Amino acid sequence: MSLLYAVIFLLAGGFRPSRFLKLKQNNQMKKIVIIDGGPRKTFNTASILEKIAEGAASAGSNIEVKTVRLYSLDYKGCMSCMACKIKDRASNICKFKDALTPVLEEIAEADGLVLGSPIYFGDVTGQMRTFLERLAFPWLSYNDYSITAAKRMPVLLVETMNGTPERNNSNGYGSMEHCIAQALGEPERLTAYNTYQVKDYSRYELAGFSEEAKRQYRDNHWEQDLQQAYDAGRRMAERILNINI
Ligand SMILES: Cc1cc2nc3c(=O)[nH]c(=O)nc-3n(C[C@H](O)[C@H](O)[C@H](O)COP(=O)(O)O)c2cc1C
Repeated sequence: MSLLYAVIFLLAGGFRPSRFLKLKQNNQMKKIVIIDGGPRKTFNTASILEKIAEGAASAGSNIEVKTVRLYSLDYKGCMSCMACKIKDRASNICKFKDALTPVLEEIAEADGLVLGSPIYFGDVTGQMRTFLERLAFPWLSYNDYSITAAKRMPVLLVETMNGTPERNNSNGYGSMEHCIAQALGEPERLTAYNTYQVKDYSRYELAGFSEEAKRQYRDNHWEQDLQQAYDAGRRMAERILNINI
C-alpha cells in the first residue's frame, strides 16, 4: 500500500529536487540583527524596533531576531588603526577589540540588518554614527574604492523624529547610506514622524509644541507606524526565507 502512495506522490510531481532544496533551505535558522541606536528603552525608536522584531518572528520559527542596544555597550568609533587594511591580511570586519566586536562579527554572518535611531540635530545619534564607522570602514577598499561586506543582506533603516513629512531637518543616515547600499544592498526605509517626546507635555518647558496637535497626530499615525514596522519586519523575514518572491 505504501508503495502505491509513493508512486502516486512521484507521479503528482511530489519529488522535484528544486522543491526539496528550497524546503531544506527554508528550514535552516536565519538571523536578523536589530541595532537600536537610541537611549530610551521604552520610547518611540524602541517600540518601532520591537514591532519589526515581532513582524519578522511571525514569518516562521526558523527566524531568529537579536536586538542590540548600543547605549548598553562600551565601545569606540573607528580608531584609524588601519588593521583592516594590512597587506594580505585585509579584513571587511573591524579588527579593533571591544564590546562591539561580537556584534560586528554577528552582523557579518547575519541574514538581515535593521538599524534604528532617533534623529538628533538632524542626524542619527552619536552612538549610531560611532557604530557605523566601525561597521563600514573595513568595507571600503583604498585600492579600488569598492565597498564590500562579508555578505549582502536585506537592510531596513529606521528613523524617529519630531519633524513632520512636510517639515523636517533629517539627513537620516547621511553619507553612511551610500556605504550601506553598496555593501549590503539598497535599504528599505521607515520613518516615524512627529513622535511624542515626553509622556506629559505639561510637566516640561516645551511650549514650542502644541500638545493638542501632537496628540492628534499621534492618534492618526502611531498605530499605522507600528503596523508599517510590523509589516516591514515580516517582509524582510519573508524575503530571507524566499517566500513570496
Ligand atoms: C538631543 C536631541 C536632539 C533632537 N534633535 C532633533 C532634530 O534635529 N530633529 C527632529 O525632528 N527631532 C529631534 N529630536 C527629537 C527626537 O528625534 C524624537 O523625539 C525621537 O522620536 C526620540 O526617539 P525616542 O523616543 O526613541 O528617544 C531631538 C531629541 C533630542 C533628545
